[in-house]
Order: sequence, then C-alpha cells, then structure tokens
Amino acid sequence: MKEIKAYETAEQEGILLNANERSEALPEYYLREVADAVLSLTLNRYPDNSQRELLQAYAAVNGLNEDMLLAGNGSDQVLGHLIGTFLGKGKILYTYDPDFSMYDYFASSYEGEVRKYTINEDGSLDIEEFIRTGREVKPSLVMFSNPNNPSGHCLSISEIERIIAGFTGIPVCVDEAYIEFADEESAVSLLDRYDNLYISRTLSKGYGLAGIRIGFLISRPENMKPLKDNYVPYALNVLSMKAAVIALKHHAEAEAFIERTREERRRMQKALADSKRARYILSQANFIYGYSSEKERLMELLDNASIVIRDYEGSDTFRISVGTAKENDRVLEVLKQFEEEKTCGQ
Ligand SMILES: Cc1ncc(COP(=O)(O)O)c(C=O)c1O
Repeated sequence: MKEIKAYETAEQEGILLNANERSEALPEYYLREVADAVLSLTLNRYPDNSQRELLQAYAAVNGLNEDMLLAGNGSDQVLGHLIGTFLGKGKILYTYDPDFSMYDYFASSYEGEVRKYTINEDGSLDIEEFIRTGREVKPSLVMFSNPNNPSGHCLSISEIERIIAGFTGIPVCVDEAYIEFADEESAVSLLDRYDNLYISRTLSKGYGLAGIRIGFLISRPENMKPLKDNYVPYALNVLSMKAAVIALKHHAEAEAFIERTREERRRMQKALADSKRARYILSQANFIYGYSSEKERLMELLDNASIVIRDYEGSDTFRISVGTAKENDRVLEVLKQFEEEKTCGQ
C-alpha cells in the first residue's frame, strides 16, 4: 500500500494558539438556538443531499447563487474533491512553498505530484515568475492560499487576476480560508470574467466554527455541475448544516469577531515590530508567522507558560494564532521576556 503522510493533530491543553481557531467562546444565544433547533431535526432521516438550506444561506450572505456553491465537511473536503477531480497518477498540482499541507496530502492520495514555487520570506512573490515556472511544469491544477498560510501575506485582487489570466485553460483554486481577516478583496468578483477560477472558503476561521466542519467551493455554475454530480452522497450531516445555517443568520456576530481579531492582530504586530531576536511577518490573517534562529529557546519559554503555538520543525519558523486579548497579552509577555533575555546578554 502506498504511504501517505498523516496530517498530525494532537489533543492539547493550555493556551491553544496553534490551529488558527477562534479562542473566544461562541455567544450563548447562538448555542441555545442550535440546541433548540436540534429538538426538531429529523435525525432518523438522511440529510438533504442538495444541501439547499445551507447553500441558500451562504449564497444570501455572500451575494452568490446557490448553483455556484458546493459545501463540504470543512473546506478540506471540497479541496480534496477538487484535487481528486483534476489530479490522477503523475498529474501535477502547482502550489507555493510554504502553503497548506493538506494540498500535499490529497495530491499524494490521488497519486498526483506536487511542484512548488518558493515564495519570499515575507510571503510575497514575483507573479510573472510564478506563472512562467508554473506553465513549464504543465500543471493540471494550481492551488494556493490567499492570505497565505503560514506567512499571512495576501495578494491583491489585481495580482490574483494576473495569476488566473496567466493560467488560461488550467483550473486555479484560490483558497480563501482566511480572506475575512484581510484588507484585500476576495477573488469572487473575478468569476464573471474567468472560467478557470475556483475559490474555497470555510466557516472554521472567520465564523469560528472549526468544530462543525463546514466549508465551501465556489465557481461558475457550469464548473460546479460536474463537481456536484460526482460528489460523495450525503457528505454533510443534519446537525452541522443546521448549526451553520444559524451562524450564517447571525453573520454580524462573525463580522464583529473578525474586527476584534484584526484589531488584536494590529496590536500584536505593533508590539512585535522592533523585535531583534525574532522577525515577524506582516499578516492579513488570524495568525502571525515568525522566524528566529533561537526558536528552541522561544518554544521553551512558551511551553513554560503553557502556550501552544505551531512549530515548523526542522526550520527556524513558527506561527502564532491571534487569540483573545488576554491570551495575546500572555503571548506578548513571553515574547518580551525572550527579547529581554537577549538584551541582558543571557
Ligand atoms: C489555508 C487553509 N485552507 C483550508 C483549511 C481547512 O479548513 P477547514 O477544513 O476547517 O475548512 C485550513 C485550515 O487550517 C487552512 O489553513
């Protein structure tokens, strides 16, 4: 049997800032509404395979049509479905290095190959070079996250447009898992002009609902039709779909959470701007990516404070999710301690 590297997750305790989740508790009125709704759900019946109520709710909030959407068990599932549709033995997925590791996982599970374009340390890239190198490898699918995970860098809509236009005839998927936290615009407005564009979104980040596992794929209706026809039946369960519909009804709550997170991110970036012992990249997502040649010591200090962040082993990089103001205060205290140790010559 072919070996596929497992996506590692671990049960952890402490201040969890390693998975770009919402740290804040969800509002009680939301949880109560979900609990009440559960009482009238027909759990004895299979879910609506057309996902109609959910797709209509997402379409309404985002100014889209239902026939442009397909929902999955997290955006992971729709990304996997897209990769499974366009990749196969020996076919190539073209992406960035670094980017979201699940692209590699799915490409490998469909026996495809991955070619990567190394982006700059701050997450920026030479768009023309990315296109030129990409066309040379003859990809069957181009996929990258914007804002990028892990750097947090976000391309502008005109840069995205250049990429989509540069790969005419080749499907390009822009993974917008973190777009709600960005200053830049979503690529959705380009769908009118480009038939090779696919966009993925999620309720795990901006809506803070990682536990219910709901994500979406967006494209033109004619692109969505074959993807819908070949999708696993009953991909989504009744409970998650209902919890998502209720969250979408309260989208203003998510928007307020996004604004608080952006504010906290700005505060953290400002506090970290003059760091000497580590370098932090300007982020447009709900996390901050850093480099330090003394990362081991930093990880030790964070560990002592029971703060769990994402450590990219074998490199000098790490990523810290933006948490609640209180959690971020703790993080900043530890990062300051790390800086001051150096100043004291320890
Ligand atoms: C860039 C990116 N895309 C997609 C996902 C998958 O999100 P989900 O499956 O929870 O929708 C993640 C999760 O961390 C991510 O970082």
